[in-house]
Amino acid sequence: MSQRQIHGKIHPEGKSQMAENAGQDTTAHAAISRVTDESHSLSFDYVIIGATGDLTMRKLLPAFYERFRLGEIAPDTRIIGVARSTLSTETYRERAREALVEFAFSASQDRDGVTTFLDLVHYVSLDASDRAASGWSPLEALLATHADRVRVFYVATAPKLYVLTADAIAAHGLITEATRIVLEKPIGTDLASAKAINDGVGRHFREEQIFRIDHYLGKQTVQNILALRFANPILERVWNADSIAQVQITAAETVGVGKRGPYYDTAGALRDMVQNHLLQILSLVAMEPPTALSATDLRDEKLKILRALKPMDPDTIARDTVRAQYVAGEIGGKPVDGYLDDLGAATSNTETFLAIRAEVRTTRWAGVPFYLRTGKRMARKESEVVIEFRPQPWAIFSEPPKPDRLVIRIQPDEGVSLSLASKDPRAAGFGLHEAVLDVSYAKAFGTRYPDSYEDLLMAVVRGDQVLFIRRDEVQASWRWIEPILDGWADNIRPMETYPAGSCGPSSSDDLLRDDGFSWKEKI
Ligand code: BG6
Repeated sequence: MSQRQIHGKIHPEGKSQMAENAGQDTTAHAAISRVTDESHSLSFDYVIIGATGDLTMRKLLPAFYERFRLGEIAPDTRIIGVARSTLSTETYRERAREALVEFAFSASQDRDGVTTFLDLVHYVSLDASDRAASGWSPLEALLATHADRVRVFYVATAPKLYVLTADAIAAHGLITEATRIVLEKPIGTDLASAKAINDGVGRHFREEQIFRIDHYLGKQTVQNILALRFANPILERVWNADSIAQVQITAAETVGVGKRGPYYDTAGALRDMVQNHLLQILSLVAMEPPTALSATDLRDEKLKILRALKPMDPDTIARDTVRAQYVAGEIGGKPVDGYLDDLGAATSNTETFLAIRAEVRTTRWAGVPFYLRTGKRMARKESEVVIEFRPQPWAIFSEPPKPDRLVIRIQPDEGVSLSLASKDPRAAGFGLHEAVLDVSYAKAFGTRYPDSYEDLLMAVVRGDQVLFIRRDEVQASWRWIEPILDGWADNIRPMETYPAGSCGPSSSDDLLRDDGFSWKEKI
């Protein structure tokens, strides 16, 4: 049975009827909308390669489970775990059950629902990066029973295996018209390796079949940047260098590298967080309004921003970047080890914190610094965007007011606040005090916050590319990142240290102080 017959909405090419009617290139609004009634539930085969890994257990299976509960996934859907370990489907289901109970929001209250969901889960033991491996026949046989439905290969393994895996999938003839491949970040470790992955996977899959995930784009609060900017003309009118003095984008975490040390030590904060998540947020904040909320329009505009980032040279790397590594400290009153102890290594030149002053060379943003900051083992978890507006050109108050600030809280405590100077009723005369208009999403919408993977996994099934990264975006990001990586490798900006549980090295504050600014607050 074809996709069109089953659901009436999805073509084998993954375009929605709505988008086709509107003459758009891919689905526009579907990724951002929700389907909650069963008549819209989708039947598909989702093959997760790397099915015993942390990402599958903590994020992917719980995300499918939640969408199944919402009625978006039909009971004849198959989620096929693939990994090298020799396991039966029954044993894998038991592992999946434990993971769901631990990590899925609704699982602990609905044990029966978990059991029903687990009927969708299958397991095939296979090294999918090896086309000669013996496990291909069972996978082929399983997929052949639903040859026409949407088929997704989610590759949650090391990026160096992406091309081999795509080659093997192709060699076994498993790519149909309705097949998609999902690639986890990072796409490569530099521009050349990113191009090699894009070329290698692109030999078998067309660009519209390739879904490069950046889970930050699945966060409601990150999507909300689009709503804030383009559904509120009052903001869009002041969204430029005339009104905005500086932009801060922070992603701070309290966690260290945990068990991910071997991966993290080859990546560092620049590759792990900036090349993807922070640059995506920056491009959403800085982009021009797209002509429509379609994948092509949105990504064209983001790409222009990535290309407009001022390239770094040795002088700006020395002046505008800070990199540091955590040493032992204390978080929440508890002692924590330094990075080298976490890693179990004597030395490492990998940054776990960075701060960067970036510039977007467009008419809208000329002269406005964009400060990026991210770190592990910081004082608290906090991701946010701060837009600081220019002060009054002429101060009529004896005490000049603090600049107005719009804060987009990505997590935790998702929401938006606007701080405004107000007459302080407690003070004699015309004293001013900062007052905050605050919208907490939890209070405003009173709903559970879906995990970012939920939207993204289902968007792949619907063929919506709007929340995924296009090849040219990945490459433009690496093009900007690469000189910094090289400059740091040459020690143009020496590595510093910071105690775990602190706000990073003081040079991160100096970066802003030199421009007459300060971070919104210490993290
Ligand atoms: C991942 C990084 O992409 O994002 C991790 O590899 C990081 O190092 C994580 O911890 C942060 O994601 P979130 O959703 O917790 O902000």
